[in-house]
Amino acid sequence: MKIDELFALLRRRGVLWPSAEIYGGAQGLYDYGPLGAALKRRVEDAWVAWFVGASRDYYLIDPVEILPEAVVRASGHLENFTDPEVTCENCHTDFRADTVLEKVRPEGVDGLTNPEIAEIIRAKGVKCPKCGSNALSVPKSFNLMFGLDFGVTGHDRVYLRPETAQSSYLAFPRMWDVGRRALPLGVAVVGKAYRNEIAPRQILFRMRSFTQAELQIFFDPERFPVPFDRVKEEKLPVVRAARRLAGSEEVEWTSAADLAGAGGLPEFYVYHLLHSYRFYRDVLRFPAEQLRLLEKSEQERAFYNRIHFDIEANLESLGGFREIGGVHYRGDYDLSRHGTGSGRDLSVTLTGGRSVLPHVLELTLGPDRAIWALADLHLVREGERTVWRLPAYLAPIAVGVFPLIEKAHAEYALRLADDLAAAGLSVQYDATSSIGRRYARMDEAGTPFGVTVDGDTLADGPAHDTVTVRERDSKGQTRVAVAELAARIELARRFPRPPSI
Ligand code: GAP
Repeated sequence: MKIDELFALLRRRGVLWPSAEIYGGAQGLYDYGPLGAALKRRVEDAWVAWFVGASRDYYLIDPVEILPEAVVRASGHLENFTDPEVTCENCHTDFRADTVLEKVRPEGVDGLTNPEIAEIIRAKGVKCPKCGSNALSVPKSFNLMFGLDFGVTGHDRVYLRPETAQSSYLAFPRMWDVGRRALPLGVAVVGKAYRNEIAPRQILFRMRSFTQAELQIFFDPERFPVPFDRVKEEKLPVVRAARRLAGSEEVEWTSAADLAGAGGLPEFYVYHLLHSYRFYRDVLRFPAEQLRLLEKSEQERAFYNRIHFDIEANLESLGGFREIGGVHYRGDYDLSRHGTGSGRDLSVTLTGGRSVLPHVLELTLGPDRAIWALADLHLVREGERTVWRLPAYLAPIAVGVFPLIEKAHAEYALRLADDLAAAGLSVQYDATSSIGRRYARMDEAGTPFGVTVDGDTLADGPAHDTVTVRERDSKGQTRVAVAELAARIELARRFPRPPSI
């Protein structure tokens, strides 16, 4: 579907809508409605199960979203977390430099200096995308963080965190004591991050307030054991940086063994790249051929990264591959910067007495982008019907419950809906319009099961009650004993378990 059509459908179904809509909306801010909020929770819980569940030494924490200025100074965000911004001196509109150069330089402007960008604008005669004049300014570096005055006097400067990662670094010494005092140690956060994006666009893809799910794995740079033998034959759809610089974005299906061997990447890195890729392929169930792992070159990658692959999905609504997550080897950048900034040595002493400043491997995902991709890749039109083919464990509503004839079956169906809800399932009771229409509404919401109470339900006496269960994807209908219903649905709602590290 095209972006407008997909967004209209999601709005109509109450998945999401522009924030402050009655005031005309606010750029880059969106709210989730009931279906969206429930789906987001499921995606986040599936992420926690897959990433935090991979090791007994990985933990989920819930820190605040505000960072004192000293933190963002030490982290480098005050100085480096900028995008080049150009202003049209004729119509006074601000643009991200990469958006005005989109046509002449589709690979973006990462790694270019402001004078280099200005030279491209001049040489290619790039005009203002809004008014068409050739009065675009020399780019300025625009810091993407939101700063706030803190406290009654307002003298203290604080910032909304630009990435959840910082919260995990601040928690590291505490988590070292809370955990087993051993490496690797994982500290995960699922929470809001804020960026004053110059050009918010593509709905959930570039927002100013969004969610990140990030796992920071602190490890001993001399030893990060992973069960590599178990995965070495697995193939990954990679686009290496060297190949891209040579002009090809073609995916090469490369085995984990080759990426780590001739490919020159550390085994621990390849193992986690695969673990992350598998989340998109096996948990979100994105088709493998719509995914690619794109390596960023030294000039392109974020200032803190040593190895950086973006995980991208091919989305029709957004016109091609878009980043939805990443795997970042950040070295000792973070702990050494915060060590200097705070004046506290963040090295730890391992069993045996060796002192180590841990390195960081970051596995990151944007749940908002994942939700858009789940809509783009799984919401399909089939003739008259629209079906959201979400994996059953991600669906916002686990089961729809319908009385075939309201007068005759509502009492039983309402009790059944309550019982299923009491078993912890999200249930939608629907008694309006034809049964076909009710199925259609549930198909569009992605509900994997529809349960109909009918004349036969009560025919064989209370111990033998049965209902019709209609399965969303196949439309197949089976008769199921009410006594078995909750357990059956619960089984389908279990998140895939990760292989343990
Ligand atoms: N801690 C590393 C980090 O923040 P990033 O690539 O800037 O790296 C990680 O962001 C993820 O957060 C992205 O892959 C994306 O899914 C999500 N994300 C980043 N900026 C976003 C935005 N403006 N709107 C929605 N999601 C965003």
